[in-house]
Amino acid sequence: MSQDTTTPPPGASRNAVEDAVAGAVAAHRDEAGALLPILHDVQTELGWLPPEATPLVAKALNLSRADVHGVVSFYADFRDRPPARRVLRICRAEACQSVGGRDLARAAEERLGIGFGETTDGVDLETVFCLGNCALGPSIELDGRLYGRVDAARLEQLLSADSDKAGAP
Ligand code: FES
Repeated sequence: MSQDTTTPPPGASRNAVEDAVAGAVAAHRDEAGALLPILHDVQTELGWLPPEATPLVAKALNLSRADVHGVVSFYADFRDRPPARRVLRICRAEACQSVGGRDLARAAEERLGIGFGETTDGVDLETVFCLGNCALGPSIELDGRLYGRVDAARLEQLLSADSDKAGAP
């Protein structure tokens, strides 16, 4: 399977992708296991990992595109699409699952009308495995802010309040 690497991805110009990869490679090239920190840096810079980054990273590290793509697709933290205006991440690790996380996950899917890994109305619904807030689960992160002891009612409150605050896209 081949990828079109001639068209800049939405939200990131070709130069932005090249610059992000070049900076990340320069920072980590000589490290053992440089691939992960390079991918993290590129994502931090661009907000996601555009497909154009794959061949650039692969070439810099003398890896195959399949090697790089495999890592990007394996780790849930790597985004292969631009982030939505808002990002809801729900912890689905055991500590949160055991105190209502499953019900919360179902409530989020019903509220948004999508499954995990999908986007609707400018909101990404994502899984995360532990937010470091295990004692206060179920835990979520909404637009980069951590919340604990979240149930369906609290989730609705947070989505509505933040939606009002954020305004229209
Ligand atoms: S298990 Fe959910 S925050 Fe750690």
